[in-house]
Amino acid sequence: MLKKIEEAADFLKSVFGVKAAIGIVLGTGLGNLAKEIEAEKEIPYSEIPNFPISTVEGHSGKLIYGKLNGVQVLAMQGRFHFYEGYDMKTVTFAIRVMHKIGITHLLLSNAAGGMNPAFKIGELMIINDHINLFPEHPLRGKNYEELGPRFPDMSEAYDADLRKLAFDIVAEHQIPHVSEGVYVGTQGPTFETPAEYRFFRVIGGDAVGMSTVPEVIVARHAGMKCFAISIITDLGVEGQVEKVSHEEVQRAAAKSEPMMTLIFKELVKRI
Ligand code: HPA
Repeated sequence: MLKKIEEAADFLKSVFGVKAAIGIVLGTGLGNLAKEIEAEKEIPYSEIPNFPISTVEGHSGKLIYGKLNGVQVLAMQGRFHFYEGYDMKTVTFAIRVMHKIGITHLLLSNAAGGMNPAFKIGELMIINDHINLFPEHPLRGKNYEELGPRFPDMSEAYDADLRKLAFDIVAEHQIPHVSEGVYVGTQGPTFETPAEYRFFRVIGGDAVGMSTVPEVIVARHAGMKCFAISIITDLGVEGQVEKVSHEEVQRAAAKSEPMMTLIFKELVKRI
């Protein structure tokens, strides 16, 4: 694994000459932020050594290197999900590579179902913590001290300073419908039954989705600071559970994306 990470990192350094400290991972229906990046280079995952290829609709699968609001960033358009069939080492491979090329801060977005009864569709939830319910752990197996400690601390998986900065931005720009909460990471690909939404609420979740948790675990293992936002695309609130489809998730995500984009654009300037 170390060799594979190094090969991919060396390749990216040779094409990008990477100077970015900020990595961005764009979630389902949230690729539009990429249009705000003044791209210097774009590279499809298929051209990067050892990179997996993203299969899900709504993810085009490339790395974008360029400036967001004048700040050098490296963005992943399209991520790897456990439900696609990848093991967790593969799901999180790109995060290892980002760390290897010098990324210190990771910003992530996702679409999620809301269990908190105060939430409305289209709301943004700044993730302040997570519950990992994936059936495979990305750090399971031999630990390489070069990559991080055997037993990583997770007391502040989502960096408190970055969250504070984001709420400053929300206040300054009077961005409506932004809250914070706990993200439950689950394997999918089914959306939840009403009983599962209820269960996730009871155990302390505000929103549920099928990504982000593996990437954040690996990023924290490597010592990177993480910030993540969920767009609430459907509700798993008791009495309000309706049918949900991938298309609806994408539509709802796209509608709220400009607000999320504004937070990311301002945040990169303040990191
Ligand atoms: N559950 C899981 N993942 C999701 C949901 C949901 O309700 N909405 C968007 N992604």
